[in-house]
Amino acid sequence: MTGTSTPPFSVISGAQVQDALRGRERQITELVEETYRLHGAGDSVNPPSYFLRFPDRPSARIIALPASIGGKVRVDGLKWISSFPENVAAGIPRASAVLILNDHDTGYPFACLESSIISATRTAASAALAADWLTRDRHQGSRPARVGFFGTGLIARYIHTFLTGTGWTFDEIGVHDLSAEHAAGFRGYLEKAGPGRITVYEDAEQLIRSSDLVVFATIAGEPHVSDVSWFEHNPVVLHVSLRDLAPEILLASTNLVDDVEHCLKASTSPHLAEQLTGSRDFLAGTLADVMAGRVTVPAGRPVVFSPFGLGVLDLAVGKYVYDEVARSGELNVIDDFFHELKRYGTLTA
Ligand SMILES: NC(=O)c1ccc[n+]([C@@H]2O[C@H](COP(=O)([O-])OP(=O)(O)OC[C@H]3O[C@@H](n4cnc5c(N)ncnc54)[C@H](O)[C@@H]3O)[C@@H](O)[C@H]2O)c1
Repeated sequence: MTGTSTPPFSVISGAQVQDALRGRERQITELVEETYRLHGAGDSVNPPSYFLRFPDRPSARIIALPASIGGKVRVDGLKWISSFPENVAAGIPRASAVLILNDHDTGYPFACLESSIISATRTAASAALAADWLTRDRHQGSRPARVGFFGTGLIARYIHTFLTGTGWTFDEIGVHDLSAEHAAGFRGYLEKAGPGRITVYEDAEQLIRSSDLVVFATIAGEPHVSDVSWFEHNPVVLHVSLRDLAPEILLASTNLVDDVEHCLKASTSPHLAEQLTGSRDFLAGTLADVMAGRVTVPAGRPVVFSPFGLGVLDLAVGKYVYDEVARSGELNVIDDFFHELKRYGTLTA
Protein backbone atom coordinates (compact mmCIF):
# COMPACT_ATOMS: atom_id res chain seq x y z
CA MET A 1 0.00 0.00 0.00
CA THR A 2 1.58 3.30 -1.11
CA GLY A 3 0.65 6.88 -1.92
CA THR A 4 -1.14 9.50 0.12
CA SER A 5 -4.79 8.76 -0.69
CA THR A 6 -6.96 7.19 1.98
CA PRO A 7 -6.56 3.43 1.80
CA PRO A 8 -9.69 1.29 1.66
CA PHE A 9 -10.49 -0.49 4.91
CA SER A 10 -11.09 -4.25 4.84
CA VAL A 11 -12.32 -6.82 7.30
CA ILE A 12 -10.84 -10.32 6.97
CA SER A 13 -12.73 -13.17 8.62
CA GLY A 14 -11.30 -16.22 10.39
CA ALA A 15 -12.44 -18.38 7.46
CA GLN A 16 -10.45 -16.22 5.03
CA VAL A 17 -7.42 -16.27 7.35
CA GLN A 18 -7.55 -20.04 7.59
CA ASP A 19 -7.88 -20.43 3.80
CA ALA A 20 -4.84 -18.20 3.27
CA LEU A 21 -2.69 -20.14 5.75
CA ARG A 22 -3.81 -23.74 5.26
CA GLY A 23 -1.00 -26.02 4.09
CA ARG A 24 1.54 -23.16 4.11
CA GLU A 25 3.54 -24.37 7.12
CA ARG A 26 6.89 -24.15 5.32
CA GLN A 27 6.31 -20.66 3.86
CA ILE A 28 5.08 -19.31 7.20
CA THR A 29 7.99 -20.82 9.12
CA GLU A 30 10.38 -19.20 6.61
CA LEU A 31 8.52 -15.90 7.03
CA VAL A 32 8.87 -16.14 10.82
CA GLU A 33 12.58 -16.88 10.39
CA GLU A 34 13.04 -13.78 8.19
CA THR A 35 11.11 -11.72 10.73
CA TYR A 36 13.31 -12.88 13.61
CA ARG A 37 16.35 -11.92 11.54
CA LEU A 38 14.90 -8.46 10.80
CA HIS A 39 14.04 -7.99 14.46
CA GLY A 40 17.51 -9.21 15.48
CA ALA A 41 19.05 -6.70 13.05
CA GLY A 42 17.01 -3.85 14.55
CA ASP A 43 14.66 -3.28 11.58
CA SER A 44 11.56 -3.31 13.79
CA VAL A 45 9.90 -1.50 16.65
CA ASN A 46 8.42 -3.84 19.21
CA PRO A 47 7.64 -2.11 22.54
CA PRO A 48 6.60 -4.11 25.60
CA SER A 49 3.19 -5.75 25.44
CA TYR A 50 0.57 -4.11 27.63
CA PHE A 51 -1.39 -6.47 29.93
CA LEU A 52 -4.92 -5.33 30.82
CA ARG A 53 -6.10 -7.26 33.89
CA PHE A 54 -9.34 -7.10 35.89
CA PRO A 55 -9.81 -7.22 39.68
CA ASP A 56 -13.19 -8.92 39.23
CA ARG A 57 -11.87 -11.53 36.73
CA PRO A 58 -8.36 -12.40 37.96
CA SER A 59 -7.76 -15.29 35.55
CA ALA A 60 -8.54 -13.15 32.50
CA ARG A 61 -6.40 -10.67 30.58
CA ILE A 62 -6.32 -8.77 27.32
CA ILE A 63 -2.88 -8.04 25.84
CA ALA A 64 -2.01 -5.25 23.40
CA LEU A 65 0.98 -5.93 21.16
CA PRO A 66 1.87 -2.85 19.07
CA ALA A 67 4.66 -3.25 16.55
CA SER A 68 6.26 -1.98 13.38
CA ILE A 69 8.26 -3.99 10.90
CA GLY A 70 10.55 -2.92 8.08
CA GLY A 71 12.08 -5.07 5.36
CA LYS A 72 9.78 -6.12 2.54
CA VAL A 73 6.75 -6.31 4.85
CA ARG A 74 6.87 -2.65 5.95
CA VAL A 75 3.74 -2.34 8.01
CA ASP A 76 2.70 -1.12 11.45
CA GLY A 77 -0.09 -2.45 13.62
CA LEU A 78 -1.53 -3.85 16.80
CA LYS A 79 -2.68 -7.25 17.99
CA TRP A 80 -5.32 -7.12 20.70
CA ILE A 81 -5.72 -10.59 22.20
CA SER A 82 -7.91 -11.78 25.08
CA SER A 83 -7.31 -14.81 27.25
CA PHE A 84 -10.35 -15.94 29.23
CA PRO A 85 -9.46 -19.47 30.44
CA GLU A 86 -12.98 -20.21 31.68
CA ASN A 87 -14.20 -20.05 28.07
CA VAL A 88 -12.87 -23.57 27.48
CA ALA A 89 -15.29 -25.17 29.97
CA ALA A 90 -18.08 -23.18 28.31
CA GLY A 91 -17.17 -24.72 24.95
CA ILE A 92 -15.44 -21.79 23.21
CA PRO A 93 -11.71 -21.16 22.76
CA ARG A 94 -9.75 -19.44 25.52
CA ALA A 95 -8.19 -16.82 23.26
CA SER A 96 -9.83 -14.40 20.83
CA ALA A 97 -8.11 -11.64 18.91
CA VAL A 98 -8.08 -9.01 16.22
CA LEU A 99 -5.09 -7.61 14.35
CA ILE A 100 -5.11 -4.08 12.96
CA LEU A 101 -2.72 -3.30 10.11
CA ASN A 102 -1.69 0.34 9.60
CA ASP A 103 -0.41 1.78 6.34
CA HIS A 104 3.30 2.65 6.50
CA ASP A 105 2.90 6.00 4.67
CA THR A 106 -0.33 7.47 6.03
CA GLY A 107 -0.76 5.62 9.33
CA TYR A 108 -4.30 4.75 8.30
CA PRO A 109 -5.58 1.40 9.52
CA PHE A 110 -6.33 -0.54 6.34
CA ALA A 111 -7.39 -3.95 7.67
CA CYS A 112 -8.87 -5.67 10.68
CA LEU A 113 -8.19 -9.41 10.68
CA GLU A 114 -9.50 -12.20 12.88
CA SER A 115 -6.30 -13.02 14.69
CA SER A 116 -6.61 -16.01 17.00
CA ILE A 117 -5.60 -18.14 13.99
CA ILE A 118 -2.77 -15.75 13.05
CA SER A 119 -1.54 -15.77 16.64
CA ALA A 120 -1.63 -19.56 16.95
CA THR A 121 0.02 -19.85 13.54
CA ARG A 122 2.95 -17.55 14.29
CA THR A 123 3.40 -19.20 17.69
CA ALA A 124 3.49 -22.65 16.13
CA ALA A 125 5.78 -21.53 13.30
CA SER A 126 8.18 -20.03 15.85
CA ALA A 127 8.14 -23.29 17.84
CA ALA A 128 8.80 -25.38 14.72
CA LEU A 129 11.61 -23.01 13.71
CA ALA A 130 13.20 -23.26 17.15
CA ALA A 131 12.85 -27.05 17.16
CA ASP A 132 14.70 -27.14 13.85
CA TRP A 133 17.57 -24.80 14.83
CA LEU A 134 18.02 -26.14 18.36
CA THR A 135 18.29 -29.78 17.29
CA ARG A 136 20.59 -29.23 14.28
CA ASP A 137 23.94 -29.66 15.96
CA ARG A 138 22.85 -31.84 18.85
CA HIS A 139 21.40 -34.82 17.04
CA GLN A 140 24.00 -35.49 14.32
CA GLY A 141 21.57 -34.56 11.57
CA SER A 142 18.69 -36.73 12.78
CA ARG A 143 15.80 -35.02 14.46
CA PRO A 144 14.31 -36.32 17.73
CA ALA A 145 11.57 -38.86 17.05
CA ARG A 146 9.99 -38.79 20.52
CA VAL A 147 7.84 -35.71 21.18
CA GLY A 148 5.84 -34.92 24.32
CA PHE A 149 2.98 -32.42 24.57
CA PHE A 150 2.51 -31.03 28.08
CA GLY A 151 -0.88 -29.26 27.84
CA THR A 152 -3.11 -30.15 24.92
CA GLY A 153 -5.16 -27.17 23.77
CA LEU A 154 -5.28 -25.22 20.53
CA ILE A 155 -1.62 -24.18 20.66
CA ALA A 156 -0.44 -27.78 21.11
CA ARG A 157 -2.50 -28.80 18.06
CA TYR A 158 -1.06 -25.96 15.94
CA ILE A 159 2.50 -26.81 17.02
CA HIS A 160 1.99 -30.46 16.05
CA THR A 161 0.62 -29.32 12.67
CA PHE A 162 3.63 -27.05 12.12
CA LEU A 163 6.16 -29.68 13.16
CA THR A 164 4.69 -32.27 10.80
CA GLY A 165 4.12 -29.63 8.10
CA THR A 166 7.84 -28.76 8.21
CA GLY A 167 8.99 -32.34 7.84
CA TRP A 168 9.09 -33.78 11.36
CA THR A 169 8.03 -37.38 11.86
CA PHE A 170 7.58 -39.00 15.24
CA ASP A 171 7.78 -42.63 16.35
CA GLU A 172 6.46 -41.75 19.80
CA ILE A 173 4.02 -39.00 20.71
CA GLY A 174 3.45 -38.47 24.43
CA VAL A 175 0.54 -36.50 25.81
CA HIS A 176 -0.11 -35.12 29.29
CA ASP A 177 -2.85 -32.76 30.48
CA LEU A 178 -4.48 -32.06 33.84
CA SER A 179 -7.77 -32.69 32.08
CA ALA A 180 -8.26 -36.30 30.94
CA GLU A 181 -10.93 -35.04 28.56
CA HIS A 182 -8.51 -32.62 26.86
CA ALA A 183 -5.81 -35.32 26.61
CA ALA A 184 -8.35 -37.67 25.01
CA GLY A 185 -9.50 -34.96 22.59
CA PHE A 186 -5.90 -34.28 21.53
CA ARG A 187 -5.26 -37.99 21.17
CA GLY A 188 -8.27 -38.16 18.83
CA TYR A 189 -6.77 -35.37 16.73
CA LEU A 190 -3.34 -37.09 16.67
CA GLU A 191 -4.84 -40.41 15.55
CA LYS A 192 -6.33 -38.70 12.50
CA ALA A 193 -3.31 -36.46 11.87
CA GLY A 194 -0.77 -39.16 11.05
CA PRO A 195 1.55 -41.92 12.21
CA GLY A 196 3.34 -42.29 15.58
CA ARG A 197 2.56 -44.37 18.66
CA ILE A 198 0.49 -42.20 21.01
CA THR A 199 0.74 -42.56 24.79
CA VAL A 200 -1.30 -40.55 27.27
CA TYR A 201 0.73 -40.12 30.48
CA GLU A 202 -1.08 -39.35 33.69
CA ASP A 203 2.30 -38.75 35.25
CA ALA A 204 4.13 -35.58 34.15
CA GLU A 205 7.54 -37.07 34.98
CA GLN A 206 6.95 -40.02 32.65
CA LEU A 207 6.00 -37.70 29.80
CA ILE A 208 9.19 -35.66 30.13
CA ARG A 209 11.48 -38.65 30.59
CA SER A 210 9.94 -40.26 27.47
CA SER A 211 10.41 -37.22 25.20
CA ASP A 212 13.44 -35.74 23.44
CA LEU A 213 11.38 -32.77 22.27
CA VAL A 214 9.00 -31.43 24.94
CA VAL A 215 6.31 -28.85 24.19
CA PHE A 216 4.81 -26.92 27.11
CA ALA A 217 1.45 -25.39 26.15
CA THR A 218 -0.46 -25.20 29.44
CA ILE A 219 -2.10 -22.21 31.07
CA ALA A 220 -0.12 -22.55 34.32
CA GLY A 221 0.40 -19.20 36.05
CA GLU A 222 3.34 -20.38 38.14
CA PRO A 223 5.94 -23.16 37.97
CA HIS A 224 4.71 -26.70 38.58
CA VAL A 225 7.74 -28.64 37.25
CA SER A 226 10.80 -28.34 39.47
CA ASP A 227 12.71 -31.65 39.50
CA VAL A 228 15.89 -31.16 37.49
CA SER A 229 16.46 -34.94 37.26
CA TRP A 230 13.43 -35.31 34.95
CA PHE A 231 15.54 -33.54 32.30
CA GLU A 232 18.73 -35.58 32.71
CA HIS A 233 18.37 -36.99 29.16
CA ASN A 234 18.91 -33.39 27.89
CA PRO A 235 15.74 -32.82 25.86
CA VAL A 236 14.97 -29.75 23.75
CA VAL A 237 12.12 -27.95 25.51
CA LEU A 238 9.77 -25.55 23.73
CA HIS A 239 8.50 -23.62 26.73
CA VAL A 240 5.72 -21.85 24.88
CA SER A 241 3.52 -21.30 27.93
CA LEU A 242 6.47 -19.61 29.69
CA ARG A 243 5.58 -20.21 33.35
CA ASP A 244 5.74 -23.99 33.82
CA LEU A 245 9.38 -24.47 34.79
CA ALA A 246 10.93 -23.64 38.15
CA PRO A 247 14.04 -21.43 37.88
CA GLU A 248 16.20 -24.42 38.95
CA ILE A 249 15.37 -26.18 35.67
CA LEU A 250 16.40 -23.13 33.67
CA LEU A 251 19.62 -22.75 35.64
CA ALA A 252 20.55 -26.33 34.70
CA SER A 253 19.80 -25.72 31.00
CA THR A 254 20.92 -23.70 27.98
CA ASN A 255 18.32 -20.92 27.71
CA LEU A 256 17.21 -19.14 24.58
CA VAL A 257 14.46 -16.57 24.20
CA ASP A 258 12.94 -14.63 21.30
CA ASP A 259 13.67 -11.21 22.84
CA VAL A 260 15.50 -10.70 26.13
CA GLU A 261 13.71 -7.56 27.32
CA HIS A 262 10.29 -8.98 26.53
CA CYS A 263 10.87 -12.35 28.08
CA LEU A 264 12.26 -11.17 31.40
CA LYS A 265 8.91 -9.73 32.44
CA ALA A 266 5.47 -10.74 33.66
CA SER A 267 6.64 -13.53 36.00
CA THR A 268 7.77 -15.84 33.22
CA SER A 269 10.16 -18.60 34.33
CA PRO A 270 13.14 -16.68 32.87
CA HIS A 271 11.97 -13.62 34.83
CA LEU A 272 11.87 -15.73 38.02
CA ALA A 273 15.36 -17.07 37.26
CA GLU A 274 16.64 -13.51 36.87
CA GLN A 275 15.03 -12.53 40.19
CA LEU A 276 16.50 -15.60 41.92
CA THR A 277 20.06 -15.13 40.65
CA GLY A 278 20.13 -11.34 40.30
CA SER A 279 21.61 -11.67 36.82
CA ARG A 280 20.91 -12.63 33.24
CA ASP A 281 23.94 -14.88 32.99
CA PHE A 282 21.72 -17.95 32.66
CA LEU A 283 20.59 -16.75 29.21
CA ALA A 284 22.63 -17.96 26.23
CA GLY A 285 20.92 -15.51 23.85
CA THR A 286 18.10 -15.34 21.35
CA LEU A 287 16.98 -17.67 18.60
CA ALA A 288 18.22 -15.00 16.15
CA ASP A 289 21.68 -15.34 17.78
CA VAL A 290 21.60 -19.09 17.11
CA MET A 291 20.46 -18.53 13.51
CA ALA A 292 23.29 -16.03 12.97
CA GLY A 293 25.89 -18.40 14.47
CA ARG A 294 26.62 -16.07 17.40
CA VAL A 295 25.51 -18.72 19.88
CA THR A 296 26.04 -22.47 19.63
CA VAL A 297 23.89 -24.94 21.49
CA PRO A 298 25.86 -27.53 23.47
CA ALA A 299 24.74 -31.17 23.44
CA GLY A 300 25.31 -32.07 27.10
CA ARG A 301 22.50 -30.02 28.70
CA PRO A 302 18.77 -29.55 28.26
CA VAL A 303 17.87 -26.63 25.97
CA VAL A 304 14.90 -24.45 26.87
CA PHE A 305 13.39 -22.02 24.36
CA SER A 306 11.03 -19.52 26.02
CA PRO A 307 9.38 -17.34 23.35
CA PHE A 308 7.48 -14.37 24.75
CA GLY A 309 5.67 -13.94 21.44
CA LEU A 310 6.50 -10.86 19.42
CA GLY A 311 4.02 -8.49 17.81
CA VAL A 312 6.28 -8.28 14.73
CA LEU A 313 5.47 -11.94 14.01
CA ASP A 314 1.73 -11.21 14.06
CA LEU A 315 2.29 -8.31 11.69
CA ALA A 316 4.35 -10.38 9.26
CA VAL A 317 1.82 -13.24 9.19
CA GLY A 318 -1.13 -10.80 9.10
CA LYS A 319 0.32 -8.93 6.12
CA TYR A 320 0.92 -12.25 4.36
CA VAL A 321 -2.76 -13.10 4.87
CA TYR A 322 -3.84 -9.64 3.68
CA ASP A 323 -1.77 -9.94 0.51
CA GLU A 324 -3.13 -13.43 -0.21
CA VAL A 325 -6.75 -12.33 0.25
CA ALA A 326 -6.15 -9.19 -1.85
CA ARG A 327 -4.54 -11.30 -4.60
CA SER A 328 -7.54 -13.60 -4.70
CA GLY A 329 -9.85 -10.58 -5.12
CA GLU A 330 -11.81 -11.52 -1.99
CA LEU A 331 -11.12 -8.45 0.15
CA ASN A 332 -14.24 -7.39 2.01
CA VAL A 333 -13.87 -3.61 1.78
CA ILE A 334 -16.01 -1.49 4.08
CA ASP A 335 -17.05 1.41 1.86
CA ASP A 336 -16.79 4.90 3.39
CA PHE A 337 -15.18 3.58 6.57
CA PHE A 338 -13.09 6.76 6.72
CA HIS A 339 -15.58 9.49 6.12
CA GLU A 340 -14.68 12.93 7.52
CA LEU A 341 -11.94 13.57 4.99
CA LYS A 342 -12.32 17.22 3.92
CA ARG A 343 -10.34 19.47 6.23
CA TYR A 344 -13.01 22.20 6.41
CA GLY A 345 -16.07 20.09 5.70
CA THR A 346 -18.39 20.04 2.72
CA LEU A 347 -21.08 22.58 3.75
CA THR A 348 -22.07 25.05 1.02
CA ALA A 349 -23.12 28.63 1.81
N1 LIG B 1 4.63 -17.63 23.87
C1 LIG B 1 3.76 -17.34 22.94
O1 LIG B 1 4.06 -16.70 21.94
C2 LIG B 1 2.36 -17.83 23.07
C3 LIG B 1 1.42 -17.55 22.07
C4 LIG B 1 0.14 -18.07 22.18
C5 LIG B 1 -0.20 -18.81 23.31
N2 LIG B 1 0.72 -19.01 24.27
C6 LIG B 1 0.40 -19.75 25.48
O2 LIG B 1 0.15 -21.10 25.15
C7 LIG B 1 -0.64 -21.66 26.20
C8 LIG B 1 -1.67 -22.62 25.65
O3 LIG B 1 -2.64 -21.90 24.92
P1 LIG B 1 -3.95 -22.67 24.38
O4 LIG B 1 -4.71 -21.69 23.55
O5 LIG B 1 -3.58 -23.97 23.79
O6 LIG B 1 -4.74 -22.90 25.76
P2 LIG B 1 -5.91 -23.93 26.05
O7 LIG B 1 -6.65 -23.39 27.23
O8 LIG B 1 -6.64 -24.24 24.80
O9 LIG B 1 -5.14 -25.26 26.49
C9 LIG B 1 -4.32 -25.33 27.62
C10 LIG B 1 -4.32 -26.77 28.12
O10 LIG B 1 -3.39 -26.88 29.20
C11 LIG B 1 -3.95 -27.73 30.20
N3 LIG B 1 -3.28 -27.41 31.46
C12 LIG B 1 -3.42 -26.30 32.22
N4 LIG B 1 -2.58 -26.36 33.27
C13 LIG B 1 -1.90 -27.53 33.17
C14 LIG B 1 -0.88 -28.14 33.93
N5 LIG B 1 -0.39 -27.56 35.03
N6 LIG B 1 -0.42 -29.34 33.52
C15 LIG B 1 -0.89 -29.94 32.40
N7 LIG B 1 -1.86 -29.39 31.63
C16 LIG B 1 -2.36 -28.21 32.02
C17 LIG B 1 -5.43 -27.41 30.15
O11 LIG B 1 -6.20 -28.45 30.70
C18 LIG B 1 -5.66 -27.24 28.65
O12 LIG B 1 -6.01 -28.46 28.02
C19 LIG B 1 -1.19 -20.48 27.00
O13 LIG B 1 -0.47 -20.35 28.22
C20 LIG B 1 -0.89 -19.30 26.14
O14 LIG B 1 -0.70 -18.10 26.88
C21 LIG B 1 1.99 -18.56 24.17
